[in-house]
Amino acid sequence: MNITVVGTGYVGLVTGVAFANMGNNVTCVDIDENKVTMLERGQVPIYEPGLESLFEQARRQETIDFTTELAPAAASADVIFLALPTPPGEDGSADLSYILGVAGEVGPYLNGYTVIVDKSTVPVGTADKVRAALEASGVVAGEDFDVVSNPEFLREGVAVDDFMKPERVVIGTNNQRAAAVMQKLYEPFVRGGNPIIVMDERSAEMTKYAANAFLATKITFINEVANLCERAGANIDQVRRGIGTDSRIGNQFLYPGLGYGGSCFPKDVRALLKTASEFDYDFRILDSVVEVNGEQHLELMSKVTERFGEDLAGRHFGLWGLAFKANTDDVRESPAHRVIDFLLERGATVAAYDPEARETTYRVFGDRIEYVDFLPDAANQADALIVATEWSHFRRPTWPVIARRMRGDVVFDGRNLYTEDELNAAGLDYFSVGRPSVGTVDAVRQEAA
Ligand SMILES: NC(=O)c1ccc[n+]([C@@H]2O[C@H](COP(=O)([O-])OP(=O)(O)OC[C@H]3O[C@@H](n4cnc5c(N)ncnc54)[C@H](O)[C@@H]3O)[C@@H](O)[C@H]2O)c1
Repeated sequence: MNITVVGTGYVGLVTGVAFANMGNNVTCVDIDENKVTMLERGQVPIYEPGLESLFEQARRQETIDFTTELAPAAASADVIFLALPTPPGEDGSADLSYILGVAGEVGPYLNGYTVIVDKSTVPVGTADKVRAALEASGVVAGEDFDVVSNPEFLREGVAVDDFMKPERVVIGTNNQRAAAVMQKLYEPFVRGGNPIIVMDERSAEMTKYAANAFLATKITFINEVANLCERAGANIDQVRRGIGTDSRIGNQFLYPGLGYGGSCFPKDVRALLKTASEFDYDFRILDSVVEVNGEQHLELMSKVTERFGEDLAGRHFGLWGLAFKANTDDVRESPAHRVIDFLLERGATVAAYDPEARETTYRVFGDRIEYVDFLPDAANQADALIVATEWSHFRRPTWPVIARRMRGDVVFDGRNLYTEDELNAAGLDYFSVGRPSVGTVDAVRQEAA
């Protein structure tokens, strides 16, 4: 099949590369000339495990190419995926201008029956708007094209695996011809028996928001339980195990921390709230999720100010992790960035390490923080170390060595990667999220004496 993917970001590039590796002819279109030039040269502009080798394979098979020119790519396509940004507008609603703009542009070039697929996360009713934009652009309605909603559930960091072996594929259309095209396209990805679920467009659009809002709520719920555990003398590690073994609850997304971030959960929760308000529905639980999540990092930061006072001028912090989660370079709405803002606003200086998200962070903070190339270097002369991302190579540092590099003696762990015992053994005080703290090393020693 001839496939055109418009937008080659995290979703579009993975989609294009995956379909190309199933033998389809894929053309990826982007307005970003630098990106297209990089891709044409064989360079992958984002960090996503496994993507580079799959990308290479597709290039060797000559099943993928890249262009900035939409018209010829639209004319040759049987299926056009719109994998464009849907950033939040000022009122929280999803900004559909990219999607509707491109829909209006491709219309006149469609050549034979074409399926236009909304791959982006878009609110209920968007498929109708895309259809209207295409019709307004001069295409004949009916025979020539159909619009399908096909939300994407991949997770950054495991995007390739998620796309190649999806737990389910959701296809939103009432049109059998379009559904058949989509099913044919996705069958190679679900050979293990996972379902392709065909439903109406509006339900498909809602499914994506419901999924993300539910997961954001689950994270926020466990964060609140963790905050309460601390106050009540319970341990979130035990509670998490205690509830996660219940199959009705499940053990994923039950890790407390600094709050959710990334390019999806924050904007999608806000967009669903906006949709609710458009239908005069007060989605109260999601209002709370937004509010609680916006303040979750303050739970750990209050321990910082308890230790050092509100004025952090002259204090220097090492920061481990900048990405919003491990295995990505994405820093959009990253809790690590909220931590940096908190520290800089109070006059502190920050030296940060992240294996992939240095460049993306530099675009936000520039030279306002220092960047180091090696994990231990972030600890140099630090009054305190803060852990903000759960990269696997953060898990077993040699604490005595880290402690010697620091001028202070305290670690604030926003990801619960360590235990108080191991840190105390290296002479470091340790604070994490939702776990009982014996207190400072001095207190531990006094108790033992
Ligand atoms: N990132 C994720 O984990 C994820 C997961 C599921 C769904 N989604 C959804 O998928 C959509 C895309 O997200 P993303 O993270 O891939 O975005 P992104 O910002 O990484 O990529 C978007 C791409 O579109 C390009 N673009 C913008 N305007 C264009 C135009 N007129 N013509 C051609 N290209 C254009 C940009 O240059 C960019 O390369 C969003 O709706 C998002 O909510 C994202």
